Amino acid sequence: MSNKTTTLGQFIIERQADFPYAKGELSRLLRDIAIAAKIVNREVNKAGLVDILGDAGTYNIQGEGQKKLDVYADEQFVSALRSGGECCVVASEENENCLYIESEISKNAKYIVAIDPLDGSSNIDVNVAVGTIFSIYRRRHTEANTKASLEDVLQKGDQQVAAGYIVYGSSTMLVYTTGKGVNGFTLDPSIGEFCLSHPNMKMPKNGTIYSINEGHYIHFPQGVKDYIKYCQQHDPSTNRPFTSRYIGSMVADIHRNLIKGGIFLYPSTSSHPNGKLRLVYECNPMAFIIEQAGGIATDGKGRILDIQPTQLHQRSAIFIGSVDMVNSLMRFIDS
Ligand code: AHG
Ligand code: MN
Ligand code: MN
Repeated sequence: MSNKTTTLGQFIIERQADFPYAKGELSRLLRDIAIAAKIVNREVNKAGLVDILGDAGTYNIQGEGQKKLDVYADEQFVSALRSGGECCVVASEENENCLYIESEISKNAKYIVAIDPLDGSSNIDVNVAVGTIFSIYRRRHTEANTKASLEDVLQKGDQQVAAGYIVYGSSTMLVYTTGKGVNGFTLDPSIGEFCLSHPNMKMPKNGTIYSINEGHYIHFPQGVKDYIKYCQQHDPSTNRPFTSRYIGSMVADIHRNLIKGGIFLYPSTSSHPNGKLRLVYECNPMAFIIEQAGGIATDGKGRILDIQPTQLHQRSAIFIGSVDMVNSLMRFIDS
């Protein structure tokens, strides 16, 4: 086993050859995101020591109270994307409208970034893993002097050029895909570099972990209720009862299931009749990554990546994970 360290930067350059027409813009965009991730990681790691904990006293478009780290993370990613020059629009969970970057340095930028700067905000104050989720599209119209618009952002998830997440956990990892598999990089703080630690990540075809907030059980669709009871039945021949694991940070729950096998479920509930998670910057990027790793992502009716977004902050039910587990759930939903 070679002990050669491959940094994210080296890996991106090496893989640039996968895109014959790429002139380095996507590589630089991924580099910009990684830089912001390191800065956010620094604050996440010392959240208890500096005044970054707690509520910012402001509310985002979702009407959700923003944590200071939500706002800080949003500022860092937007700033990195603004100064990097490769991004023309940023669609962030934390901003009601898209941010159009029309600076001189970005005048030829052809990429759109949709981002959840800090996923799992409710976990910040209690020192539990949180994350960042990003999704990258190419602009639809690149003719000279055409301005980017919301239409460039509201593209189907199957149009994503790249997607990834950062999980700020026991270690900090960046996991991303450009449509040619999934690779994971662990931050080595001693050199300040993300180093390739999980090459060619593949989601186990089956698993024994189900992740859902069972507190909403009473409001779940019947098929989901039936599947939860199936998970809890005693049947050693199918390794049941399964294990229930739910962190409350989508990134951390799905990252664990990607490595160990499992299914993450966020159905429609009474408080969120269309599901809670946002299609553009949570469901689509996570669906792209999990499909690229050999898993499935559906809203219970169809493939997440086939949904045509109509609004920036629209929500969707999501059932995502190991093929055999999602197919088993769908038999209950369709019955
Ligand atoms: P965010 O912090 O970006 O709003 O995301 C929180 C999401 C997601 O990370 C997690 O899976 C889900 O909210 C948890 O919701 P419940 O607390 O309703 O279970
Ligand atoms: Mn989130
Ligand atoms: Mn968030």
